[in-house]
Amino acid sequence: MPAQPEIGEILVQSDDLRQRIRALATEINRDYEGKSVLLVGVLKGAFFFLADLMRQLEVECEVDFMAVSSYGSSTESSGVVRILKDLDTPIQDRHVLVVEDIVDSGLTLSYLMKNLGARQPASLEVCSLLTKPSRFKVDPKLRYVGFEIPDQFVVGYGLDVDQRLRNLPYVAALKQ
Ligand code: IMP
Repeated sequence: MPAQPEIGEILVQSDDLRQRIRALATEINRDYEGKSVLLVGVLKGAFFFLADLMRQLEVECEVDFMAVSSYGSSTESSGVVRILKDLDTPIQDRHVLVVEDIVDSGLTLSYLMKNLGARQPASLEVCSLLTKPSRFKVDPKLRYVGFEIPDQFVVGYGLDVDQRLRNLPYVAALKQ
């Protein structure tokens, strides 16, 4: 049972996260066989997922990070995105796999894909742990998805509310 009163229903249990991430890694290993893939983790929320996914990869892979902030309220993004940290290396002719924590409206990702696409990677795909399809404002074109969840604000497994509750080992709804 969740210990803190603001933590609501557990939507994805730790065991389910583990199993699904293993399955995603199997797909990625198959799809990128013989290639070298650059994983681009979107900070901060994706860092648990990225670490657990990368541990399961057998294809040649490297990692880099971007940090973006989306203007808006703490629970609603506006689509106006600022890059707080850019990639350390060029991605031209690289196979890039963006690793996201959650796609909500899709606006942040849409900005990121336009930005990265302009750098002429050999391929550019997205792997998101969670999506809220009922909230999409743009079609986010996701190659790999862990779990589709309902329209609820969630915390845990890297996801935060005002920087807190990232440390929960499961994904739970936030009691607002
Ligand atoms: P979007 O631009 O609306 O798709 O929002 C994407 C970003 O908002 C994600 O990368 C998260 O950082 C944050 N976000 C959206 N929904 C949630 C949620 O339910 N919990 C925590 N963060 C969220």
